[in-house]
Amino acid sequence: MATQPSKQLYVQRSALSMRTFSTGRASFSELVATTKPKKKSFFPTRTSNSVAYWLLGSAASVFGIVVFGGLTRLTESGLSITEWKPVTGSLPPMNQEDWESEFLKYKSSPEFAMLNSRMTLEEFKSIYWMEWIHRLWGRVIGVSFVLPAVYFTARGKMTASMTVKVWGIAGLIGFQGFLGWWMVKSGLKDDLFAPGSTPRVSQYRLATHLGTAFIVYLSMVWNGLTTLRDNFLLTKMKAADASAMLKKLQDPALRPFRRATAGLTALVFATAMSGALVAGLDAGLIYNQFPWMGQGLTPPKSELFDPFYSHVPAGASGKHSDLVWRNMFENPSLVQLDHRIMATTTFTAVVALFGWTRFSTVLKHRLPSSAKRAVHGVFGFASLQVVLGISTLLYLVPTTLASAHQAGALLLLTWTFVLGSRIHASKHSLSLLERALQNGRLGVQTTKKVSTVSPIRTKTAFRKAAEPQLQGVLPA
Ligand code: HEM
Repeated sequence: MATQPSKQLYVQRSALSMRTFSTGRASFSELVATTKPKKKSFFPTRTSNSVAYWLLGSAASVFGIVVFGGLTRLTESGLSITEWKPVTGSLPPMNQEDWESEFLKYKSSPEFAMLNSRMTLEEFKSIYWMEWIHRLWGRVIGVSFVLPAVYFTARGKMTASMTVKVWGIAGLIGFQGFLGWWMVKSGLKDDLFAPGSTPRVSQYRLATHLGTAFIVYLSMVWNGLTTLRDNFLLTKMKAADASAMLKKLQDPALRPFRRATAGLTALVFATAMSGALVAGLDAGLIYNQFPWMGQGLTPPKSELFDPFYSHVPAGASGKHSDLVWRNMFENPSLVQLDHRIMATTTFTAVVALFGWTRFSTVLKHRLPSSAKRAVHGVFGFASLQVVLGISTLLYLVPTTLASAHQAGALLLLTWTFVLGSRIHASKHSLSLLERALQNGRLGVQTTKKVSTVSPIRTKTAFRKAAEPQLQGVLPA
């Protein structure tokens, strides 16, 4: 035996991994330490925690730009830069001549003619800076995402599927820049504006721009959170706890709850998009009361479905085929009512989910406690959001409240995603976890390309796990 130390060690390791697993006292990293070298592959089987932290940091920056973008809109600054120069536009006007030239371009925009014809150069500078900072922030997000993405890809720090997702997000960030300009462009021509109305961008484009920002943010949050969760389960958690967690993540009794959470997330997103239509049409400046809208809970039907918004002439039956959908998306009264209905439905769904977790015996016993805490978060942020929404309306859309209401939507969505990440695991994560539990020898590959663990670390981990259980079996 003494002539074959590695074989002896391996046999003992296998025995140990079974024993530590059955007692549930070893951590996953110790089980991992008993793995056999696997075939080389460029992509690791786990994404590194550093990628997760970078994704969450980028998400924070996207959160910031969404709020700043909202402020740019609310201070009517968004149409101050009338061109789109993705590279050369990074520099602001440098001297008086540059400023005069920018101001001259703005003077030919409908917003100047209809709203700001008395604006001075100094006033122009303040709205210009808001829009310029918003655009610069967008560029910073792009660069601070793409450069690390290149590094993490080249160093093999992400799984194959995470690499695809990260580059998908990078593509979406670039596309978002284009969408921003596409939106601004719609505010630079005057065919959108009814006589007497305030110049504005297309509400459809505003909703698309906001929706894409939300998707970028949520993709970052989701991938960051699930990576941290998976790595925690696979490397930090005690085997017994991880085994219990695996059972919970796979529990078929939680399937309806998982579906309900996914449905609720979609509902919150749709409500947020209906809010973007309210913002885009300045529909928060009418019916500033709650729950009433004029004389009743809703305005009269003739006002909600007004042929004025139809583009298709009335048919033989006297009806306009686009009457309903045009009014739903373009008539400020109905758009505001839509948002009220969506928000009420969302809040009711949140209360129902909250009640379900409190009163269902199945959920009481089987839902992970971290998920129960997340439900409290969802309930709290939904309540806050409703209070902010109603206050925004009652006080005629002041900048601070409207901005807080917008940020609140993102916080509420964040919590529905946090909840989702605590009850859902991808097939890949589940199978890694299952394999690590059932077969300590197979184990989990580290974020390095090869699954071999340093012999010194392996031996140390092995001894650490062995001591309580195999006293005297191991050589000193
Ligand atoms: C779950 C509930 C809600 C969600 C997720 C939500 C989401 C949103 C979002 C994302 C916006 C667009 C903000 C922007 O781009 O500036 C918005 C706008 C708005 N929402 Fe809500 N909202 C909710 C509830 C309510 C309620 C209950 C009311 C009042 C009855 C309300 C009134 C408004 C108003 C007036 C605006 C326009 C603000 C502006 O012009 O900037 N919201 N909402």
